[in-house]
Amino acid sequence: MCKQIMCGIAGYVGPRKAVDVVFDQLKRLEYRGYDSAGVAYLENGDINVLKRAGKLNELTGLMADGTPNVHLAIAHSRWATHGAPTDENAHPHFDQFEQISIIHNGIIENYLDLKAELAQQGSEFRSDTDTEVAAHVIGCEYTEGVALEEAVRRAVKRLRGAYALVVVSKREPEKIVCARNASPLVIGLGEGETMLASDIPALLPYTRSVIILEDDRIAVLLPEGVRVTNLDGQELPVTPLHIDWDVSAAEKGGYEHFMLKEIHEQPEVVRQCLAGRVDDKGRARLDNVFGQSVWNNTDRIVIVACGTSYHAGLMGKYLFEKLLRLPTDVFHASEFRYGDPVLSPNSLALFISQSGETADTLAALKLCQARRIRTLGIVNVIGSSIARECDRTIITQAGPEISVASTKAFTAQVIALVLLMLHVAQEKEMPGVRVEEITRDLLELPELAQRAMLAEGEIIRAAEKMRDAKLVFFLGRGADALVALEGALKLKEIAYVATQESPAGEMKHGPLALVEKGVFAVMGATESEMREKLASNIKEMQARGGQVLAITTEGDDLIPKIAEFVVRLPKSGSEFLNALLSIIPMQLLAYHLARLNGCEIDQPRNLAKSVTVE
Ligand code: M6R
Repeated sequence: MCKQIMCGIAGYVGPRKAVDVVFDQLKRLEYRGYDSAGVAYLENGDINVLKRAGKLNELTGLMADGTPNVHLAIAHSRWATHGAPTDENAHPHFDQFEQISIIHNGIIENYLDLKAELAQQGSEFRSDTDTEVAAHVIGCEYTEGVALEEAVRRAVKRLRGAYALVVVSKREPEKIVCARNASPLVIGLGEGETMLASDIPALLPYTRSVIILEDDRIAVLLPEGVRVTNLDGQELPVTPLHIDWDVSAAEKGGYEHFMLKEIHEQPEVVRQCLAGRVDDKGRARLDNVFGQSVWNNTDRIVIVACGTSYHAGLMGKYLFEKLLRLPTDVFHASEFRYGDPVLSPNSLALFISQSGETADTLAALKLCQARRIRTLGIVNVIGSSIARECDRTIITQAGPEISVASTKAFTAQVIALVLLMLHVAQEKEMPGVRVEEITRDLLELPELAQRAMLAEGEIIRAAEKMRDAKLVFFLGRGADALVALEGALKLKEIAYVATQESPAGEMKHGPLALVEKGVFAVMGATESEMREKLASNIKEMQARGGQVLAITTEGDDLIPKIAEFVVRLPKSGSEFLNALLSIIPMQLLAYHLARLNGCEIDQPRNLAKSVTVE
């Protein structure tokens, strides 16, 4: 299997100039990362296709004299998987008869077998893509007298893998037909217009009423609405969701980059994540999460996630073990799914994902379902696969996260984990857990997060000195060491700076050998009991020519005397919340270092927002 990053999909049928709409929608999906783009539109009974390798403006440049006055179009931005990023491999693709044109997100796993079969029947292919093979399969099924919807239904039964497929036809030029299995597809309903996209923000300027297409569904879009059927052709009722996100929440809102906007949104995100979840007695209130009988019988928590969500999972382990004394293991989803994990019936599996679509996490979830283990999700995107598949789900309520580098989602995930820990303590009646004190500290956190933003000046000063850093260590102890892992990931992915992350106490067991002039360390030092030990670690670094940016809390009079750069965070009554706050200066450091070095911040090289196929 190859690794695929999600592509952007857009489609429109209605009275507006359709090509303008789909270009605008693709633009709103640019954060996904892509290497080519294309459009297909219906004009005078013909399908016109334009596609180009490169950024969207390469494509829009082909219409510099104006877009056609047509009312149905589909468009796609591609991240190469099968075949290099060339004009030929860009979507849309025609079938063998040039009757239909399709765009696709996902991977057709049996495409080589299908390709061989089709070639025997006379198909000739112009690209190296699995998508063109899917187009030919639909072409085969789209015989005289068969409607496009039925042809798509028959075709998808022959496909294995993940797909969001969108198809237009010369024979039925008034409609768009789409099908979904495991790759996201959202339909928007407007007044006399209908549209689709691979993600909600692309639709928000046009409508608030959306349908999240489920797996194994076919939808037919006409200007007057949508018809959804299953693979047997039965029509299914649809209930649109009302999306109340502010459009500006999906746009940059005055910041130079989405990442900076999302970092600065964190005080509000904490507020949103807590909204309605702490009652007036100071107790946590999580609806729709398992109750007492389940928690009393749970003897182990298994947390599964990738990347930033994995780091949030480590904080979950810290909280569950330290405060609940509940054994907890955290797994990278990609390892878990192939690792034949030991799972007892009393284990509870917790899946953390911003997008809710990460392929490895979803596969791990399916493994747990097959083993009949209870599943709980912590997910940001409502209606996403992981949110829907888990027995119970806590939505993090962080709003759309556009920047590839996850920032506010991490904070929201950790807050959700704290709430979950409190919920379990309440259900298990554990008087040792100071629930009311912790909820009080949580409610103060938005204000503290706001004050943590004041670190930006010192961070910019440190970033200027670190511009040519050979290597940056991320160190800490306890919860600080966990947040340091996330800080290091930010610096790597955004600023392309090599990092080495480890608990500070491990330095002299090997990594210290890397320290010399030009090497820096970011030291999380929010835990007061650890400060003397951390002071020794700082001196170890400095003795070898290294310099240190220390993140400590107000009132510390030891670390600020010795570190070259110091950020003092406001102090929370709960030490693990101080550690959580330390992610803010680390995110700002990654951002400013990347900006100083001219990196493409919102779309770092080689990465994109959601990894929906293995
Ligand atoms: O959507 P998910 O939380 O499941 O995504 C998991 C990772 O792909 C994601 O956190 C990734 O590591 C981010 N780019 C980190 O900034």
